[in-house]
Amino acid sequence: MAIQRTFSILKPDATRRNLTGAINAKIEAAGLRIVAQKRVVMTRGQAETFYGVHKERPFFGELVDQMTAGPVVVQVLEGENAILKYREVMGATNPEKADAGTIRKDFALNMGENSVHGSDAEETAAMEIAQWFAGNEIVG
Ligand code: RTP
Ligand code: MG
Repeated sequence: MAIQRTFSILKPDATRRNLTGAINAKIEAAGLRIVAQKRVVMTRGQAETFYGVHKERPFFGELVDQMTAGPVVVQVLEGENAILKYREVMGATNPEKADAGTIRKDFALNMGENSVHGSDAEETAAMEIAQWFAGNEIVG
């Protein structure tokens, strides 16, 4: 497996509780490199675009509310098999089902406020990275 990039968000529930460093430590301990990172507040339009795939789902409004409730940290992570590896480090969407030691098991509050996002495939990773970073902001 070649070196891959994935897109990550530390969500508002995480920044509110001052968990940026604790989550980044888990990311780095897993061998993923943070090759781009910035702290922003998403507009509703940006959050709706980002999670557009879920716009018909019953939780969409709540999801957009949660993603715009405070600052997020958007990141590009790089490493061997980065997309799948980060999904493993994150743990299951529902923190009650997440494995021990994962970010969501240790930090998530509930299904919606689950502390982190990670891309689910190569195509979505490329789209998500392009929504948030210019090429010259990513330094591997
Ligand atoms: P993400 O996209 O944020 O990395 O999370 P995921 O792949 O594990 O989960 P996904 O199905 O893509 O859902 C996106 C986000 O929507 C919120 N959600 N709430 N209340 C609910 O039933 C529910 N289901 C999903 C979560 O914040 C989830 O991460
Ligand atoms: Mg998802």
